[in-house]
Amino acid sequence: MATHARPASLPSRPPEGRRVPELDPALVGQWQAGGGELIDLFAQARQRLGGVAAFRLGPRPTVLVTDPPAVQHVLALHPDRYVKRSHRARLLIGDGVLAATGEAWQRQRRLLQSQFTGRGMRRYEQRITGAARTAAARWAAYARSGEVLDVGDEMRRFALDTIWRSLTGHPLDPATARELAAVPAVVAALPSLPADGAAARGAVAAELARIDAVASHAVAAARDGRAGPDGPGLLHVLLEAAGTRPEYTDRLIRDELVTLLVAGHETTATTLTWLYLLLDRNPQAREQALAAGAEGSPERRQAVQALVHETLRFYPSAWILPRCAAEDDVLAGYRIEAGTDVLVCPYLTHRDPGLWEDPGRFDPGRFTTPGRRPAHPGSYLPFGIGPRACLGLQFALRESTVLLEHLLPAHTPCFRSTPAKAAYSIIVRPDGPTPATLGG
Ligand code: HEM
Repeated sequence: MATHARPASLPSRPPEGRRVPELDPALVGQWQAGGGELIDLFAQARQRLGGVAAFRLGPRPTVLVTDPPAVQHVLALHPDRYVKRSHRARLLIGDGVLAATGEAWQRQRRLLQSQFTGRGMRRYEQRITGAARTAAARWAAYARSGEVLDVGDEMRRFALDTIWRSLTGHPLDPATARELAAVPAVVAALPSLPADGAAARGAVAAELARIDAVASHAVAAARDGRAGPDGPGLLHVLLEAAGTRPEYTDRLIRDELVTLLVAGHETTATTLTWLYLLLDRNPQAREQALAAGAEGSPERRQAVQALVHETLRFYPSAWILPRCAAEDDVLAGYRIEAGTDVLVCPYLTHRDPGLWEDPGRFDPGRFTTPGRRPAHPGSYLPFGIGPRACLGLQFALRESTVLLEHLLPAHTPCFRSTPAKAAYSIIVRPDGPTPATLGG
């Protein structure tokens, strides 16, 4: 009997559209032989082929997306066609909201969303200020003693203290801080591109065990009802959810806690470290921010926040946002077949001279003067765009601005040495220590 239904086994019709231009394999070979950074390969693909370009590292092409409309298409307009697959940080964050997909992700995101916007955010004000004051007191002591500090370590300590207070209601204690010093080693071991993290797991098993021990200790303390001096934290919200929603198992609570802990401090700490390195080369930017208004004024706050935005333009810590095509599609006139790995690269979009005037210049004024930055939503995306955009955007901007309002007027780090280059792992970070003494 004739039937009009297409048998499931037939391949789907290739989508319309042209083939994505692909980087000459000889150039990829040269890059591989030279042991270059991934970013060098991406920059070459972008420069030679444009804002939607392919290269082949394995049997299948990977598509690099840097043009704002194509970025918006992938992340914001068709997030169901371009999905997260096997998250690079899964071995650390398990099924937490950053890695989750489908309905599980929707439920997890809904629960956390209200905690990070509007009224929810106000709950963190006191905790952020508490952590900033602690950091400022530490810096004042360094300035008095003339002792060398490491700016990167200091920024990590502040960001960790802030998120720890927000999660548990307690300031970060030295023992927990020591155990969580394991986080950067695990983050550095994560693959830059989507891959099976199993190989990394063995190398960082001891660090993972330390992080797990901290998480289970914090969960046990919150279960005992031991809220901290700042009141209950986000962890209590997760435990309350477990009371009515069976999906919040102990495992998922651990994964969510570690996700917020890691996503909520490595990125901010790295951004603040880059900011100080950029100010070292552009000292006038600090002067201008402080001159924008009196202490506590909206003008100064806006100027300080612009320092953060310009730093994130140069070094968006999440420098690639990987997706996988869940179905055939046409992107900017090009054919994308289901199963294709797609990499959105904010790092290159943020440095595109076709979008940004003199992109190599550190110029926070782009973010305070209307009309000085490109208007397209796909042209500036340090926090991502679309439904999977950063949950902690407001939190990150607030904590960075409050810390800088405390530190900038009083201290200028005088670096003993600065890292010669960036390391492009799962986040882009300074590749080395950042020792400094503090001047007035
Ligand atoms: C400067 C600091 C930060 C930067 C640059 C940053 C960047 C990002 C980016 C680009 C994404 C989207 C990833 C993608 O689309 O693949 C993301 C997601 C996320 N971020 Fe952030 N982030 C920062 C701080 C924070 C903070 C402070 C928190 C928590 C307090 C946080 C929690 C999250 C979570 C939970 C997600 C996953 C959202 C989802 O998949 O639904 N982030 N972040």
